[in-house]
Amino acid sequence: MPRKILVTSALPYANGPLHFGHIIEAVQTDIWVRLQKMRGNDCLYCCAEDAHGTPIMIRAQQEGIAPETLIARTAEEHRRDYAGFLIGFDQFHSTHSAQSRRFTVELYERLRDAGYIVRRAVRQAYDEQAGMFLPDRYLRGTCPRCKAPDQYGDSCEVCGSTYTPADLIDPLSTVSNSTPVWRDSDHLFFRLGAFEPMLRAYVAGGSLQGAVGAKLAEWFDAGLQDWDISRDAPYFGIEVPDAPGKYFYVWFDAPIGYIGSFEAWRAAHGASFDDYWKSEHATELYHFIGKDISYFHTLFWPAVLHGAGLRRPTAVYAHGFLTINGAKMSKSRGTFITAQRYLERLPPEPLRYYFAAKLGSGIEDIDFSLDDFVARANSDLVGKLVNIASRCAPFIERGGGRLAAALPDPALYQQFASQRERIAQLFETREYSSAIREIMELADRANRYVDQHKPWALAKDPGRAGDVRAIATEGLNLFRVLMSYLAPVLPQMSQAAAAFLGTDFRAWDAVATPLLDAPIAPYKPLATRLDPKAVASLIEPAAAAAAVAAAPDATVGIDDFSKLDLRIARVANAELVEGSDKLLRLTLDLGTEQRTVLSGIRAAYRPEQLTGRLVVMIANLAPRKMRFGVSQGMVLSASGAADGDGIFLLSADAGVRPGMKVS
Ligand code: MSP
Ligand code: ZN
Repeated sequence: MPRKILVTSALPYANGPLHFGHIIEAVQTDIWVRLQKMRGNDCLYCCAEDAHGTPIMIRAQQEGIAPETLIARTAEEHRRDYAGFLIGFDQFHSTHSAQSRRFTVELYERLRDAGYIVRRAVRQAYDEQAGMFLPDRYLRGTCPRCKAPDQYGDSCEVCGSTYTPADLIDPLSTVSNSTPVWRDSDHLFFRLGAFEPMLRAYVAGGSLQGAVGAKLAEWFDAGLQDWDISRDAPYFGIEVPDAPGKYFYVWFDAPIGYIGSFEAWRAAHGASFDDYWKSEHATELYHFIGKDISYFHTLFWPAVLHGAGLRRPTAVYAHGFLTINGAKMSKSRGTFITAQRYLERLPPEPLRYYFAAKLGSGIEDIDFSLDDFVARANSDLVGKLVNIASRCAPFIERGGGRLAAALPDPALYQQFASQRERIAQLFETREYSSAIREIMELADRANRYVDQHKPWALAKDPGRAGDVRAIATEGLNLFRVLMSYLAPVLPQMSQAAAAFLGTDFRAWDAVATPLLDAPIAPYKPLATRLDPKAVASLIEPAAAAAAVAAAPDATVGIDDFSKLDLRIARVANAELVEGSDKLLRLTLDLGTEQRTVLSGIRAAYRPEQLTGRLVVMIANLAPRKMRFGVSQGMVLSASGAADGDGIFLLSADAGVRPGMKVS
């Protein structure tokens, strides 16, 4: 009986490009799904865009476009990149879809009716200028612990401490740069604690990896807190049906996007919804994710499903993080490699192969080393694998293009073919690196076979033509077994190999019988060597990367620019601001009027250096209420891309007077 399986990868956020981290996850999932399909299982692979949340709303605002436009554009790019890496989704949908909306509301109502939702007021930072509540990540201020300036609202990157935004010293909203106020608002909470016994049993049931289970034990010990699942408008998301002006927090509706994506597939192809989402026996459900989001998938998600009367995942498979040359991916170091950057330079399959060769079932981080990648792909794929076919094919072609009717060494062939159950188990248990190692050991043996029988030497003797053809037939049959084992990893190459051998790799067990007395097509190279220069260029030169990191996300038209009223002003007075080590209070003379501006240039200038000099200011900037008073404009200064390069005011040529327009 074929198994019925539904598989997902985590839904990528719809506000940024796919990068190597997304690709390794998609490749891991895709290999698993392709294996299941070859094994005759009824396996579906669903994914979607994660389209909601504050970052997407703000990103769209910054670009001056509707969030719907942003997510549609990103979805196109994501689809293109996934296709470029040969990811075979059965369905790629969006959380901003009718299906996701319907299920989000439905699950919420079931949880509410079962008593799992409570309402409670929450005090939160509110940006009066932007008119919105601020997620912790949109607050910056001084760390309450170590006093490092410019830290996030929830944690300090300098001393590593975590805190609540209310403890942050001198908080500023990064949305408008104004000082937030504190406001109460009612929020909806999911009573996660009610599910503790169920979750403990779930974990004990073996649905999770050891390391993930250990993490869960820590979370249990810390106590399961109610989970805030609502956000106030403005928010880009799904409105809570019985709380107008409130929206579901993106992480509430995101996993429900798995159901939405499945439903879109089901509506087009027909299947029983209940088999997939109600019964824990009729089908299997697996989520492939990165370890950073296991909390959501191993606690909230099973609890939400269970509370709403739906099945829980059969298992959640977390993988580790991808590093580049041993370090975290970084935009400024140029190692934030996007899918697009790779595909513009190199073919997808060597990377799929390399990722497979590195992936195991655990959550350890995985390193992409550029040199190792070139060496491994070239030696394994070209030097070992393809080498077997390219050495044997000419002897068959010369002998009429037909494989021999019998194998000279059937036992050797059976040794290869009988590995299929073991290799399948290694893929099934996500021990891809072991699978690849064993497949490559077989490739070595196949090459040794050809080396030992030296068909090129025998070919000089016309009387041995039958032997030559038999040896080449054996070699090509061993090659066929290897390509069948690698078909989940190398779908295109295996397709080309299948066309060459006049067969297909649709069924895993087909290699049980060898290919004999059958025509083969003329051999065409199945893989070429990677160019180390092209691989090196995956990493952006540091300078270019820094510029990219600093560049604004979108261009502006001249109309946007002309909205700025840039003026020359004379510094009439400059003084220190008590309590701030960053700001100076400047009195600026525009010729017709005076303005007070709080300027963050104290580190670079003493007040007495400034009095009397000319500066450029934005005269029509909306006044900003700051902790130390209202700032009526802004002084322009130059600073380097890297922090610590200093701040420099711009100087004026002779003839420049206060009040002049700068354009
Ligand atoms: N949108 C959420 C997931 C919602 S699932 C219901 C999200 N999106 S993400 O775009 O930030 O990440 C998508 C997946 O990529 C996650 O599984 C994440 O772990 C994975 N990766 C992102 N960066 C990664 C690496 N550097 N390495 C490996 N995987 C990483 O989280
Ligand atoms: Zn700190």
